[in-house]
Amino acid sequence: MSGLIFFRTTRLEEVSRFYLEEVGMSLWLDQGSCRIFKAGNLLLGFCKREESETEGIITIFFDTREEVDAMYDKFADTAENKPRYNPDYDIYHFFCRDPEGRVVEFQKFESRLNEYITASDNLISRRSIRTFTEQIPDIELLKRVFEICRYSPTSMNRQKYYYVVTDNHTKIKQLAKVRGNSTAPLAGAPYVVAVCCTPETKRIQQDADIAATYLLLAAHCQGLATCWITDMDRVEVKELLDIPLEDYVTCLTPLGFAAESKDLPVRRKIEEFIKFV
Ligand SMILES: Cc1cc2nc3c(=O)[nH]c(=O)nc-3n(C[C@H](O)[C@H](O)[C@H](O)COP(=O)(O)O)c2cc1C
Repeated sequence: MSGLIFFRTTRLEEVSRFYLEEVGMSLWLDQGSCRIFKAGNLLLGFCKREESETEGIITIFFDTREEVDAMYDKFADTAENKPRYNPDYDIYHFFCRDPEGRVVEFQKFESRLNEYITASDNLISRRSIRTFTEQIPDIELLKRVFEICRYSPTSMNRQKYYYVVTDNHTKIKQLAKVRGNSTAPLAGAPYVVAVCCTPETKRIQQDADIAATYLLLAAHCQGLATCWITDMDRVEVKELLDIPLEDYVTCLTPLGFAAESKDLPVRRKIEEFIKFV
């Protein structure tokens, strides 16, 4: 099930400009007298009518306080307050008004959120994270991540990939030393996961690689952070994690809550990596 909320407006053009150009939402569907805007999971519709509806609060939330502050810089003239922490709801927020006087709230939830991210946002916003908070993800959350990993495609549907998860600090510290700077990000994570595959499939590397990609993306949509650490098909790694020597380990990843936010590293434009023949 999906949905959206509509408001009546007498000033469709002005309201459209505000949500598109100033707030930064995108136009999801233009039905002429009704327009629907989108930002992340939020779908917001406005329909041109004889009277406006302005009751309620439209809340738009971000991943970081910096993004809330940037919105405050834009909307300071209609803001009711400077961004501040509200302990009642464990949020950082401020209120302002749209052109028709609707209350718009910009905020960051400080507590962990259940899944809300859309598929394309999940693909776009995943980053390699190398520092982690001390908070330990609970087993139920890990199960939700691995439940998604059940759907990783495999050659001939053999499903011979598997994940070895450890929270053993001594082992994690040893794994972090295997390849100097490359493996160092493992050291501070509450969990390390090895993504493995048995030789009972002809496509051992490909099946393992896809299973690792699924893990990174599944973790991200559940609010957890990872980093693909490669070149881990090594005897010392297998001995530490009790992995049979004939199995293939495509990567290790730290798994935990991010203690850093990362800007998007440079990405190529699509013209640079698509060739129509
Ligand atoms: C095959 C592969 C190997 C990687 N190996 C390492 C590694 O050994 N250590 C590390 O810190 N990051 C490693 N990374 C993470 C990359 O540095 C990272 O994906 C890249 O800089 C792009 O950043 P992003 O993941 O935040 O988009 C690896 C990523 C991939 C896909």
